Amino acid sequence: MNRRFPTLITLIAATGLIVAVSVQAGILGSSHDLQAELGIDEVCVVCHAPHNAVDPVAHGLDYAPLWNHEAGSTVYTLYASSTLDHTPGQPDGSTKLCLSCHDGSVAVDNYGGTTSGTIYADDAMFDGAPGTSIGGARDFGTSLDNDHPISFLYDAVAAIDPEILPSSSATPVGGTIATRMLVDGKVQCSSCHDVHDVDGNPHLLIITNEGSELCLACHAK
Ligand code: HEC
Ligand code: HEC
Ligand code: HEC
Ligand code: HEC
Repeated sequence: MNRRFPTLITLIAATGLIVAVSVQAGILGSSHDLQAELGIDEVCVVCHAPHNAVDPVAHGLDYAPLWNHEAGSTVYTLYASSTLDHTPGQPDGSTKLCLSCHDGSVAVDNYGGTTSGTIYADDAMFDGAPGTSIGGARDFGTSLDNDHPISFLYDAVAAIDPEILPSSSATPVGGTIATRMLVDGKVQCSSCHDVHDVDGNPHLLIITNEGSELCLACHAK
């Protein structure tokens, strides 16, 4: 047996250098840290600017937190289902910010007034080759008809559907559905994802989906 191996283990145990699991948390090093891919040395600037941010009205945005990225004008096909309790409408709020990159209509490097970018969200330079991501979902295109419904008022559905938990219910990561998962009372991409990856969960999820606990936070199933 190689004697150096146990010696190393003993050394690590003695100095307490082993950390059980190291989870990357926060935007630095996350999927949305695009510094390396775009060859820049700032993180936030791709999406936000402290000054001269985009004019929300001119960009058709109803929510633009010092937004510094071009927005698209895509009209989407929407999720439809005979058991839905709401009538889906076009995406709004923060979801439009996500889709500016994730519908593939606006280049990721179209920020800070640049409109001639050439790098798109399904580009091979990002982790995973185009089309190999789960469900090919990095670039949604114009169809949201096979995606979880977004941009609708949660309470209006919870009021008539007993299998949708009240928005005052606690979530596994603290707070209530209303405070932690809804944006202005609506289900949006940010109900399930944290764009800044503060918690370091896979796929930028706000709650890991182990045992489907993300789904069970809202669905009484
Ligand atoms: C890839 C795009 C992207 C990057 C990069 C990014 N953000 Fe955001 N940020 C968003 C989006 C989208 C929203 C609105 C949706 C939401 O809150 O989930 C947002 C919202 C915010 C908000 C307002 C809501 C809140 O969470 O408090 C703040 C503040 C913010 N970002 C700060 C930052 C800072 C600081 C950085 C850099 C360290 C950064 N963001 C990097 C996309 C980004
Ligand atoms: C500035 C463009 C841009 C915006 C705005 C943006 N994203 Fe992304 N996002 C990307 C790119 C590019 C990637 C792929 C990065 C990589 O894999 O290296 C990505 C990756 C992701 C991933 C995959 C993470 C993983 O590890 O599987 C998720 C989930 C995601 N984004 C959700 C969102 C959500 C939700 C919003 C809005 C709240 C948003 N994005 C806004 C550009 C953007
Ligand atoms: C109801 C919860 C929920 C909502 C709402 C939601 N997602 Fe996701 N998303 C997930 C889960 C869970 C995953 C992890 C992979 C999977 O199960 O498909 C995921 C995965 C992703 C990925 C990674 C796909 C890949 O193959 O790498 C992207 C990008 C993404 N979502 C973007 C978005 C955007 C943009 C929106 C809004 C238009 C959105 N999501 C709305 C739950 C959600
Ligand atoms: C933030 C709360 C929330 C989370 C998290 C969430 N959902 Fe939903 N989901 C809803 C609401 C509310 C509806 C109902 C919309 C309606 O009926 O009008 C819905 C609708 C659905 C539908 C469509 C039902 C139909 O009648 O066609 C399915 C299926 C579904 N969700 C599955 C999931 C899965 C799987 C997950 C986890 C990956 C998940 N949901 C996470 C709130 C949520």
